[in-house]
Amino acid sequence: MKILFLNGPNLNLLGTREPDKYGNQTLNDIEEYIKKEAELLNVEVNFYQSNIEGELVDKIQSAKNEYDGLVINPAAYTHTSVAIRDALLAVNIPAVEIHLSNIHKREEFRKISLTAPACIGQITGFGANSYKLGLIAITDYLKSL
Ligand code: DQA
Repeated sequence: MKILFLNGPNLNLLGTREPDKYGNQTLNDIEEYIKKEAELLNVEVNFYQSNIEGELVDKIQSAKNEYDGLVINPAAYTHTSVAIRDALLAVNIPAVEIHLSNIHKREEFRKISLTAPACIGQITGFGANSYKLGLIAITDYLKSL
């Protein structure tokens, strides 16, 4: 089983970016941790991060023949990107949306996710653990098919 973790804009700054909201771990730290967890589950995992909407769309499109599932933190594009939502619907690869912070507890504009309706479900508010919960959710879902 092969899972792609997609990370949107500014997540490359994790570790120093608003640590009160997003924690102290870098994206690299999270990736290392998730890769260890994935090994235990016998799942292959790759990480990708981009600050550019079109690059995320390209990556979703090219995932079609390579990955069984996606875990996506679209970051700010969660709230704005029809293009990422459409790409997820177009490729029809099962996806789980994740967020470090609880987007429903924050500003009004963050409570709306354009991308979540293109996903199986959403995990939000567990810090870096949202990535682990996302891995478990997508793996269990794919195993149940
Ligand atoms: C985020 C929440 C978004 O609202 C924000 O724009 C991000 C990070 C999160 O993981 O909590 O960049 O996706």
